[in-house]
Amino acid sequence: MLAGGLVPGSVTLVFGEPGVGKSTLLLQVMASTAGRGRPVLLVSAEESAPQVRARAERLGPLPESLYVLATTDLTEAEAAARQLRPALVVVDSVQTVADPAMGASAGALSQVRAAVEAFAGLARSTGAAVVLVGHVTKDGDLAGPRALEHLVDTVVAFEGDRHHALRLLRAVKHRFGPAGEVGLFEMGDRGLADVPDPAPLLLGDRRSDVAGSAVTALVEGRRSLVVEVQALTTGTVAGTPRRTALGVDARRLTTVVAVLEARAGILLAELDVFASVAGGLRATEPSADLPLALAVASAATGVPLPADLLSSGEVGLAGEVRQVIGADRRLAEAARLGFTRVLVPRATPAGPSDVTAIRVSSVAEAISVALGPSARGRAGRATGATAEVTTEVTAGAIAEVTAMAGRGMAHQGRLR
Ligand SMILES: Nc1ncnc2c1ncn2[C@@H]1O[C@H](COP(=O)(O)OP(=O)(O)OP(=O)(O)O)[C@@H](O)[C@H]1O
Ligand SMILES: [Mg+2]
Repeated sequence: MLAGGLVPGSVTLVFGEPGVGKSTLLLQVMASTAGRGRPVLLVSAEESAPQVRARAERLGPLPESLYVLATTDLTEAEAAARQLRPALVVVDSVQTVADPAMGASAGALSQVRAAVEAFAGLARSTGAAVVLVGHVTKDGDLAGPRALEHLVDTVVAFEGDRHHALRLLRAVKHRFGPAGEVGLFEMGDRGLADVPDPAPLLLGDRRSDVAGSAVTALVEGRRSLVVEVQALTTGTVAGTPRRTALGVDARRLTTVVAVLEARAGILLAELDVFASVAGGLRATEPSADLPLALAVASAATGVPLPADLLSSGEVGLAGEVRQVIGADRRLAEAARLGFTRVLVPRATPAGPSDVTAIRVSSVAEAISVALGPSARGRAGRATGATAEVTTEVTAGAIAEVTAMAGRGMAHQGRLR
């Protein structure tokens, strides 16, 4: 994806979490470019030349025309690049090179901007393709101002969890090609390898007989990725219930929990809710709301979702299931992987014939279809919640409270 697409004279910014494999990826890109005549130059500001060499040797035969300059000095790096006239310059990383004359320390806004501008100038005047490696903030965004994105031609996010093998390369901004395209790679001993089909990595360990596991199809560029969204609920021990999101958007989780409580009668006020996406991927698009809601509802009721069921849809505050983009790709990928039923928003067009699109207009309806009509009344029973209820209401009232759960009122009854 990168090696074939680096336009001469262009500047590309690749950013990602520590340890995700940025240096590895770019060394591989350099190795595949180095065989094409002109030299390639790595400005290594984070690792010494022997460290780079060790990694390069692990990844494959050492490319002849790969030059490494281990320095943090921006002016030195720029001068070397002008002298060598490489086809490709990689700067690892743009936050660790600095112009000593400027006073500010490396990583300071002024230094990062100066580095981007210096290498952009180099790209324009020598025709070299420049790739800058960038660090991310705690939230996973590019460190430094968004304005940096305007100074470069292409911005590529390198995503994945360093404890998992799968990596996603996403063109966030692209002046010379389509944005939103993704490349999938697997990190192994010999570096990153293409992943033609991620499904075995993403769904291989799924246990569909356990409550709290929902499957959804995400849309990434032109492709669709089927991932497992998991949820777990446990009785809240201390005061405020916790909502913990891993790989799903924390605000979406909070919202989905509120909607389940208020619109679908799933009682979660006394429960800690954990949600995650298996495989180290992130499912932050709105279409992950419905599977998230179903996973949480399944966890709270203790009823597993059917193994052949996939779901996709945005959830609104009224509890409605809203239309999402790329339904055709999602349905096609679901069908390819053998899912036979897909819960989708009402207006979804027909998909492939081997998968049944079940159109739903609300979360409550989706839960009835996926978990059975009586599931909502069971909310809280699989956890400590019912036990707490019994301490405050008479035994005879328990049945009533459980029945009221379907209308989202049980905890009100308990509080009075
Ligand atoms: N000897 C090794 N064998 C197998 N895999 C390794 C080895 N060394 C490193 N790795 C893999 O490479 C990853 C680190 O890759 P890399 O250094 O390219 O990441 P990075 O994004 O450049 O990190 P940083 O932000 O720290 O520079 C490790 O998390 C590990 O998965
Ligand atoms: Mg690195």
